[in-house]
Amino acid sequence: MAAEALGGPEVLPDGRTLPWAWYVDPSVYELERERIFRRAWQYVGHTERLEQPGDYLTATLDTVPIVVVRDGDGELNGFVNVCRHRGTPIVEGAGRVRSLQCPYHAWTYGLDGRLRAAPRSDREPGFDKAGLSLVPVRLATWGPLVFATLDAEAPPLEEVLGDVPAIVDAAGGDWSSLTLWDRTELEVAANWKVLTEGGLECYHCPVAHSTFTDVIESSPDAYDIRSYEYVSSQVGHIKDANGRSPKRAMPYDTAGPIDAMHIEFVWPNLFFNMMPGRPNVMLLYFVPVSPGRTLSVTEYYFEPDAPPEYVRELTEFINVVGQEDADISERVQRGLRGNAIPDGRLLPDSELLIQHFNALVYRSLSDSTGPPPGKDGRIRP
Ligand code: FES
Ligand SMILES: [Fe+2]
Repeated sequence: MAAEALGGPEVLPDGRTLPWAWYVDPSVYELERERIFRRAWQYVGHTERLEQPGDYLTATLDTVPIVVVRDGDGELNGFVNVCRHRGTPIVEGAGRVRSLQCPYHAWTYGLDGRLRAAPRSDREPGFDKAGLSLVPVRLATWGPLVFATLDAEAPPLEEVLGDVPAIVDAAGGDWSSLTLWDRTELEVAANWKVLTEGGLECYHCPVAHSTFTDVIESSPDAYDIRSYEYVSSQVGHIKDANGRSPKRAMPYDTAGPIDAMHIEFVWPNLFFNMMPGRPNVMLLYFVPVSPGRTLSVTEYYFEPDAPPEYVRELTEFINVVGQEDADISERVQRGLRGNAIPDGRLLPDSELLIQHFNALVYRSLSDSTGPPPGKDGRIRP
């Protein structure tokens, strides 16, 4: 069992956290939008909603609406979901279409993004349809998970995911054939980094998650944490029956091909989680809404024929943990927002993955046009 750094950016010195002002300052938030959420690969949806030609789903990267659509050749295409005429988002939600037709003046684009028809454009000399295709967005997949980025220069998704696909494949169970059973959205009054950091350590588990620690052993010698370049990995094992509270029944049946808990973090905002038991995947991702508010989205995937009782019990178990994390994150935000104290002190043996995440934030905000505003000189690694 280990806390191991296997690559990644240089961490901030002396166990220091990011400056706490960065969790409330609107100018840092704007910089994060520009340098993190307009650049990084982000999970946008699952291919089970994109099986047939014309199937589409929509998502938002930072504030940019995008659409992912399967074309007649079976390829997935990504576009900025904004009409080239006057800027209307063309489709909403998810569904199946023959073409992408704007609801305002009916400009109609093919599934390949080309402008096919624009009513009355034949009356306009020099109207150039060829130059008015939908703007493409880069897509990539990991198994059935579709990711998108607005940045033409972003490193390939494969490079970002690093060892995570191999770790997940070795964990047991066929996760790629699971189906969506439930999806929840919760808006939390905390900065997206507070929520993310809460998912990157289990130091708080014995204190804040009593049900969780009845199932998973979270003592430091039994809990593996490893950081890589852009990802990090936590592996926890089922608690020995002797360590469990004798008064409580197991919250769900942990028997199955997956014998450990996995929390795989993919920069900047996705957690790929598996609990011990029958095949299951919980995708948890955080969408910043403002410096002090974040949308927390959870998607629950199980086998198509999973016993409903198993699904219900494991989903409830996860929801309890999620609510406990949301509550403590809101409390943290109330502590940070007054700017009374410049920063905090991590315990790197237990909180290595927060150091890694903070270093990625720091590096992202520091690149290209110089360091971020504020306290850069003091905490520069
Ligand atoms: S804005 Fe799309 S057709 Fe006019
Ligand atoms: Fe937690």
